[in-house]
Amino acid sequence: MAGIVIVGAQWGDEGKGKVVDLLAERADLVIRFQGGNNAGHTIVRDGVPWKFHLIPSGILYPGKLCAIGNGVVIDPKVLTGELDDLRAKGVDLSGLRISANAHLIMPYHMLLDHAGEAKLGRLQIGTTRRGIGPCYADKAARLGIRVQDLLDEKILKKKIVAAMEPKRLSLRPYAKSPELDLQSMTEDYLTYGHRIAQYVADTARLTWDVLDHDGTVVFEGAQGTLLDIDHGTYPFVTSSNPVSASACTGTGVGPKDIDEIWGIAKAYATRVGAGPFPTELDDDLGVTLREAGGEYGTTTGRARRVGWIDLVALRYATRINSLTHLAITKLDVLTGLGSLNVCTHYRGAEEARFDHYPYHQTVMHQAVGEYEQLPGWDEDISGVRDERDLPQAARDYLAFISDFIGVPIALIGVGPARDQIIWTDAGRSSLAGQALPTDGQQLDPV
Ligand code: GDP
Ligand code: IMO
Ligand code: MG
Repeated sequence: MAGIVIVGAQWGDEGKGKVVDLLAERADLVIRFQGGNNAGHTIVRDGVPWKFHLIPSGILYPGKLCAIGNGVVIDPKVLTGELDDLRAKGVDLSGLRISANAHLIMPYHMLLDHAGEAKLGRLQIGTTRRGIGPCYADKAARLGIRVQDLLDEKILKKKIVAAMEPKRLSLRPYAKSPELDLQSMTEDYLTYGHRIAQYVADTARLTWDVLDHDGTVVFEGAQGTLLDIDHGTYPFVTSSNPVSASACTGTGVGPKDIDEIWGIAKAYATRVGAGPFPTELDDDLGVTLREAGGEYGTTTGRARRVGWIDLVALRYATRINSLTHLAITKLDVLTGLGSLNVCTHYRGAEEARFDHYPYHQTVMHQAVGEYEQLPGWDEDISGVRDERDLPQAARDYLAFISDFIGVPIALIGVGPARDQIIWTDAGRSSLAGQALPTDGQQLDPV
């Protein structure tokens, strides 16, 4: 058996979807463990982009078991929309499973997310406004509505009333909103319940079954380590734990079920929304990098903030997640940029030097990246499939990253397409890589 966890090692949008799609080919189950439709994962197959917000990235393999674990928060309107869309495109959804214990995003969660941000004004977090924070808050307050509640009208209505009661004051400005009408909300959610009922399952038991029968499970993370509510740049974070430990709580397995932990990082850095970003480039080079990398959000369309790779943060992500492997995506985007900066430490107030990720919010807000400059390359690398064919400067760049954080690079992304990937020796000898055909090539996409 093998349990392989995929996590974002930066601020999200590292290319997790593409890596999960690759590993899913030989996995017996892909299961998402946290986040909701704040996530946006793009996979490019035969030149066609597929965008997923809730459905696990393995769904394009016909019949592949793909589960939404208990740790995910589900907006059933978005989920049913995504299902309709996939069905219309002829995608086989028979392998989909949805945890009966996953919490539901309700219309009032979205309104509260908007209202919370409006109230913060200049200090806003820049959330995706999908109701993620208020939904996880209700989960912790034990006022959440879960997937299983959709199957019983009486229970559903009672729980909605109980959940809305303490929010009366904050929801007063929306009192006349049709979305908040108890009867129509209950009916809408019952309808969603009917539409997803066939997929609702005990996903924890399903995961144990696959593992206990020597199967391979890919645990799909969303967001990224620096957006973790405990370990990220709080309060500029999401409301779940995108770190690897959460693969256990978000699906129902124990730490011993995990064999490999893959961190996904871009060859540079991006961040959407507010919060500290010590290596941010807000000059012309930043604009060039944003355009070269197509750095606009999959979920909200917002321009992503861009910067140099931050090895202080990446080393922190390595330790917090116990990374065993690293995938570096978007190496192609750095082509032709001239020399490249890699951040090796931070400079804070009064010239203080930080070699390690500072835990204090004020320090983090003042931290500015300090760099080592490495040579760049001009050769087009998008067609390279063997690491030995990369320009020496690109190989040195990757070696610098890997040496600095002490984790082998298993995969290198050189373009958005499925085959624009380089499996390194470390990747091929990993559990995930061993499951591939012997020449390391992928099978034909469906
Ligand atoms: P995720 O949220 O981590 O799954 O990442 P997103 O899908 O939000 O953002 C990553 C973007 O980069 C997507 O548009 C991918 O198609 C694209 N992408 C992934 N890997 C590569 C790569 O190696 N090179 C390039 N140029 N694009 C890539
Ligand atoms: P994927 O899975 C990048 C960011 C938002 C905001 C903060 C809180 O595609 O990598 P939330 O709506 O979660 O309360 O917003 O988190 N954020 C993401 N940034 N990629 C994501 O997901 C993100 N999901 C949330 O921009 O700063
Ligand atoms: Mg994304």
